[in-house]
Amino acid sequence: MLSEEQVRQYHQQGYLVLSNVFSEQEIDTLKQAALGIVSEFDVSRHRSVFTTKDRDAGRDEYFFDSAEAVHCFLEEGALDEHGELNRLKELAINKIGHAMHDRVPEFTDFCRLPVIGQALRDIGYQAPQLWQTMYIFKQPGIGGEVRWHQDASYLNSAAPGVTGVWIAIEDATRDNGCLWMQPGQHHSPLREIYQVDWSSRTGTLRTLDETAWTVGVAEAMEVPAGSAVLFNDRMPHYSSQNLSDASRHAFTLHIAESGAVWSPGNWLQRPRLGAFKL
Ligand code: FE2
Repeated sequence: MLSEEQVRQYHQQGYLVLSNVFSEQEIDTLKQAALGIVSEFDVSRHRSVFTTKDRDAGRDEYFFDSAEAVHCFLEEGALDEHGELNRLKELAINKIGHAMHDRVPEFTDFCRLPVIGQALRDIGYQAPQLWQTMYIFKQPGIGGEVRWHQDASYLNSAAPGVTGVWIAIEDATRDNGCLWMQPGQHHSPLREIYQVDWSSRTGTLRTLDETAWTVGVAEAMEVPAGSAVLFNDRMPHYSSQNLSDASRHAFTLHIAESGAVWSPGNWLQRPRLGAFKL
């Protein structure tokens, strides 16, 4: 259960760090499940790269379909000029997304650990629902930068209030591309919105507000494996490229209040799977 001080910190600063809330075994079970998904992934069938450098213009059917599936996306730097992998598959994956909580038992069990649902209720959710999960590898050497953004740009709900839960599966440091946030800037304007035109099945990232990304003071979220960072969907956040020689795995969940209505142009639609209650 969160203390009053922790709840206040979440609402005033827009984020909250919960150190060492998951056991080594819980973290390792999730990591092995993620590696199992990668070992079964057939690169020759799906060469879909995930990068945020192109303002998300490269999202394809394989990406849109991942809202209700378990799909692996490659690092941009993992393909050579012929489109072939230039390294081991295990070191080429950018992330897995976005419905492992529905599709993979180890992920389902992890998401149902009481500490997650309890923390969400403590910060004010009545009936939290889990909409998407991502397992992010941040591979050594090539783990790409994720530019400054707000998650609300990619999860457009008519009833705002999506919370992200970012969990360190491995220690996160400045050297390996930890998360950076701007405390208190969750009240700053929504800068961008990504919406999909389903008739042409193309997504566009539009600028809504020209406020600079760096209006606040950035703080590094250096946390040990087994820690969680909860943050508001308007919080500007970023992570640098991983230039270290070790990976920096993380697992993220995005939660909305029960009954949240998603914009028709929101990329994430779950007509088949529906709600996952926490
Ligand atoms: Fe994000």
